[in-house]
Amino acid sequence: MAHDPITSGTLAELAKFDPAIGELVAKEAQRQATTIELIASENHVSAPVMHAMGTCLTNKYAEGYPGARYYGGCVFHDDVERIAIERACKLFNCKFANVQPHSGATANQALFFALLSPGDVFASLVLADGGHLTHGLKVNMSGKWFQPVHYPLVYDKAKPNFEHIDYDAVERVCLEAKQQHGDKFKLIMCGYSAYPRVIDFARFRAIADKCGVLLHADIAHIAGLVASGVHPSPFPHCHVVTTTTHKTLRGPRGGLFLTNDEDLAKKYDRSLFPGIQGGPLMHVIAAKAIAFGEALKPEFKTYSQQVVKNAQALAAALSQRGFRITSGGTDNHLMLVDLRGKSTDLIGADAEKWLEMAGLICNKNGVPQDPRPPKQTSGIRLGTPATTTRGFKEEQMHAIAGFIDRVLTAGLRGPEALATEAAKVREEVRALCEKYPLPA
Ligand SMILES: Cc1ncc(COP(=O)(O)O)c(C=O)c1O
Repeated sequence: MAHDPITSGTLAELAKFDPAIGELVAKEAQRQATTIELIASENHVSAPVMHAMGTCLTNKYAEGYPGARYYGGCVFHDDVERIAIERACKLFNCKFANVQPHSGATANQALFFALLSPGDVFASLVLADGGHLTHGLKVNMSGKWFQPVHYPLVYDKAKPNFEHIDYDAVERVCLEAKQQHGDKFKLIMCGYSAYPRVIDFARFRAIADKCGVLLHADIAHIAGLVASGVHPSPFPHCHVVTTTTHKTLRGPRGGLFLTNDEDLAKKYDRSLFPGIQGGPLMHVIAAKAIAFGEALKPEFKTYSQQVVKNAQALAAALSQRGFRITSGGTDNHLMLVDLRGKSTDLIGADAEKWLEMAGLICNKNGVPQDPRPPKQTSGIRLGTPATTTRGFKEEQMHAIAGFIDRVLTAGLRGPEALATEAAKVREEVRALCEKYPLPA
């Protein structure tokens, strides 16, 4: 516990004041400290980022924007938000930022309401192939109030770009949307939740220009890699960019909007507040500012480079053990493991459960053209942002591939074999975590 980013003093205070919650937070701190976090969208923030969220800034209403608030007493909040904006612009090399979105989903919702009218058409990736629910899922506002058309991946195994974005198909789908819907077709979205390859923003922009529509990148997953120059930047190609701040960027849970276009920035600001949100979470904005400051340091580039090296090492080690990695590998922080490569009996939902028994935390995930439903899936998604924060390198990735293989192979043999092997791996995971404590 000594190395936990929640200081033991904070935990002790909580336990004294509200034992029910205090005990649960302490248990969660222990869980995070002693398990290997392989969920691609999670990370371990630094102590300053974590503690900024527990400050008095949470007490304040600061509706509006710096210099134009609807409440008195915002003088320090104005400066905190200005610093966050300034650092975000520097980090992503753009002119305008809105740091107020409460989350990635809210950041996208505000984008829709800023740039589209209900019934308008937009293009996004086939959701089951790695898109996010805010990119047109029928039960999400993006699919209820707007009309998505979807572009596919390359599904032909014989092609070298198998399971990469099919840019020719993107162009075809978008030109058809233009022909069919005319000016109601407004936006192309790129950026995904489970896509392991580099996104060709320039190619997307050429297609957007051909159609006369705006290009949006949702870099929620790759933001930290973009900020470090480890993944190409969406600027100058994309008109608008949204992201979360809590994945590879290693900040607090939250959203962010970025652009170089003043008119679009103004539209977005109005759409977010008063269009969707009320008071901004100023304690979270302070934590965002701190995280952006951390990401501007040279160490963060080294960290991001290691995130990718680790993902590539883990993908290679798993393929050597008979698992199929979709698209043949990864260029970023995540990979999709098609479990059918190991055994057609392996199901993502089981794998997630079995691995958790051993202290390896991941999520089930559909693979491209997955025949299994989303609650089962044929795959798991693995990512390296959190393990890299702990200091894991390629050597530990090889160890993790071995753990995964041992647990899943035992699971296929039956509950008894699984229980024995998972217990053994759990102890090895615990020992590894002790050797690489969370950031102090
Ligand atoms: C591509 C993408 N966009 C948006 C979001 C939504 O972010 P949040 O969960 O903060 O609403 C996610 C979350 O996983 C995502 O992967």
